[in-house]
Amino acid sequence: MALLEIQNLKKYFKNIKAVDDISFSVNKGDILGLLGPNGAGKSTTISMIATLTAPDSGVIRFRGEDISQNPKAIQQSLGLVPQEIALYPNLSGLENLQFWGRAYDLSGALLKKRIHEVSEVIGIKERLKDRVKKYSGGMQRRLNIGAALLHNPEFIIMDEPTVGIDPQSRNHILDTVKALASKDTTIIYTSHYMEEVEILCERVCIMDAGKIIAAGTKDEITSSLGGGCELTLKLAKPDAALCEKISKLTGVSKLSAEDDMVFIVADDGDKVTHAVLELVGKSNAPLLSFDTKKASLETVFLNLTGRALRD
Ligand SMILES: Nc1ncnc2c1ncn2[C@@H]1O[C@H](COP(=O)(O)OP(=O)(O)O)[C@@H](O)[C@H]1O
Ligand SMILES: [Mg+2]
Repeated sequence: MALLEIQNLKKYFKNIKAVDDISFSVNKGDILGLLGPNGAGKSTTISMIATLTAPDSGVIRFRGEDISQNPKAIQQSLGLVPQEIALYPNLSGLENLQFWGRAYDLSGALLKKRIHEVSEVIGIKERLKDRVKKYSGGMQRRLNIGAALLHNPEFIIMDEPTVGIDPQSRNHILDTVKALASKDTTIIYTSHYMEEVEILCERVCIMDAGKIIAAGTKDEITSSLGGGCELTLKLAKPDAALCEKISKLTGVSKLSAEDDMVFIVADDGDKVTHAVLELVGKSNAPLLSFDTKKASLETVFLNLTGRALRD
């Protein structure tokens, strides 16, 4: 049985279909990446899982039980790291952690121990006594994560935890997620950064305009696109006839051209590459550069929506 199961979930705000009939599930110990551009519906989805927003329709089950029937069960097991930082700037890091710890019914020696452990994990120990308003954005993010870890939750949801922070804090956060995952914690990691999701998550749901437009492991998603490999050619001049021939090659599933640049999605492997280069060699458009790489989730998104993830 899946730890979390979401069925036909919907949430509309007037005419905005924020979440438009999505279904997915998360198994215990999984790290699921929820990837999508701004406005895709990620935070609204999370807010419903966290029982902060009521769905218009659909069911969310936690350990098989409808969360609207028993919200406490998921509330107690969940550590939510919200997209907006939820800290008191005039209190110290320590006081903030004490506040959040009490909100989770922790007190006394146990709270002290957990604050000690968590501040080790998020790497803010030396700054615990400083007021949060003196922290960098990255440190505030880390403290925000720490607050959600105090009660040692078995299920963690992080909503875009690395937006707008320094690379050092970002790496620290990614390492924290990896460490949590190795402890068998179940995680939903939301981001519009494709690379992070590729590094961290075994399974990915790609969201756009309230819908899940692709789901599965990274390999399943890229192969559903019709290929595992991307070729980029720069020609000395545009050549429509050549593009036409390439697009008909076996193993080539997508081709788009922009002036002298040609983008190809194809099967993984040397065969297609050789065939493409052979056709280019026979054409009268000299090749200026050639690049090949494994297809990324970014390519999938681009192909499914015609837009880049970061638009
Ligand atoms: N409380 C709200 N009232 C009206 N519109 C909302 C509200 N919350 C979200 N939306 C809209 O729903 C859509 C999805 O938003 P959101 O879930 O925040 O997306 P994401 O987290 O993927 O950026 C957006 O168009 C957003 O403007
Ligand atoms: Mg959001």
